[in-house]
Amino acid sequence: MIIRPRRLRLTQAIRDMVCETRLSPSMFVYPVFIREGHNIIEDIPAMPGQKRYSPDTLPAILERAVKAEIGGVLFFGIPEHKDECGSQAYADDGVIQQAIRVSKREFPELTVIGDVCMCEYTSHGHCGVIRDGCVDNDASIELLSRVAVSQAQAGADIVAPSDMMDGHTAAIREALDSEGLINTLIFSYAVKYASAFYGPFREAAGSAPAFGDRKTYQMDPRNSREGVREALLDVQEGADMVMVKPGLPYLDVLSAVKKAVNVPVGSYCVSGEYSMIKAAASQGWLNEKNAVLEAAVCQARAGADIIITYHALDLAGWINA
Ligand code: PBG
Ligand code: ZN
Repeated sequence: MIIRPRRLRLTQAIRDMVCETRLSPSMFVYPVFIREGHNIIEDIPAMPGQKRYSPDTLPAILERAVKAEIGGVLFFGIPEHKDECGSQAYADDGVIQQAIRVSKREFPELTVIGDVCMCEYTSHGHCGVIRDGCVDNDASIELLSRVAVSQAQAGADIVAPSDMMDGHTAAIREALDSEGLINTLIFSYAVKYASAFYGPFREAAGSAPAFGDRKTYQMDPRNSREGVREALLDVQEGADMVMVKPGLPYLDVLSAVKKAVNVPVGSYCVSGEYSMIKAAASQGWLNEKNAVLEAAVCQARAGADIIITYHALDLAGWINA
C-alpha cells in the first residue's frame, strides 16, 4: 500500500477546499499617517505608494478602506509642534484626534484604531518622557493614559499602545474606565521588538530617536519566551487583543503567543517589510502580488487573526478578484 498525500493536491478546486489557512479582507488593518495642515497628500519616499494626509483629505482613502471591507484603519498622527512631553499627543484638537473625528463623521461604521505613543510627538523622539537621560516608565504611562482617553473621547473604537512601557495596559484600562469609556478596546503592541525594520516608518513619521535607541523598552530579537511573558502580562492587565511586531521575521514568536493566550492575536507586517517588497518588485526581482499574498498567508498560518499591513487595500482587492 502506497500512501499518496498528493492526491489531495490534484486540482485547484480541491486544493482550495482542503487548505488550512484562508485570508479574508476583514482580518486586515490599514495604517494611515495623518499630518497637520490643509489640502495635503504627500508621498513618503521610503514607502512608495503610501502617503501622509491632512485631516481634510482623509475621506478619500478612508472610503477605499470602507469599500475594500477591511477590518479597520490604524491612525498615526504627525504633529506640527513637538515638545519634551509630547503634549500634542493628548491635545483635544491634536492632529490624530481631528482625524478620528473626521473618520467617525464620514464613515461611522469604519473601525478606527488609534496608535498610542509619544515618539511622533516628543522633541527627543522617544516613546515616553525623559528624566535624567532615561525614559521614565511611570511618568510615561500617566501621559499615555491621557493619550488613550483623548483618542477614545474623539471616537476611536480601539486604542493600540505601542510604547512598550511596563504596566501601560492596566493604566490605560483604568483611565478609560474612570472616564466611562468602558467599551473602548485595547489592542496592545505587547510583543514589540527593537527592530531595524521600522526604518521607513521613522522617516514617514519623523520619529527617529534624537539620542540613544529603544532597546531599554523594546524587546531583544534574540528572545521568544520573553515575548510570551509580555503577552501574558498584557492579557492579565486587560488587553482585548495583543500584537506581535514585526511580522515575517517573528513567526515563531507569533505562533508561541497564539498558543499561550486566549485573545485575538495580531501580526504587524512593518514598514521595512513593505518597502523591501516594493523595492524588489520595482526592479522586477519578484512578483509583488504573489509575494504579498504569500507573506499574509504565512502570518495567518502562524496564528495571526489580524494582520496590520500597508498592503491591506491591495490584499483585499487581490482576494476578492
Ligand atoms: C511608534 C511605532 C513605531 C511603529 C509603530 N508604532 C515605530 C517605532 O517603534 O520606532 C513601527 C511601524 C512600522 O515600522 O511600520 N512607537
Ligand atoms: Zn513610540
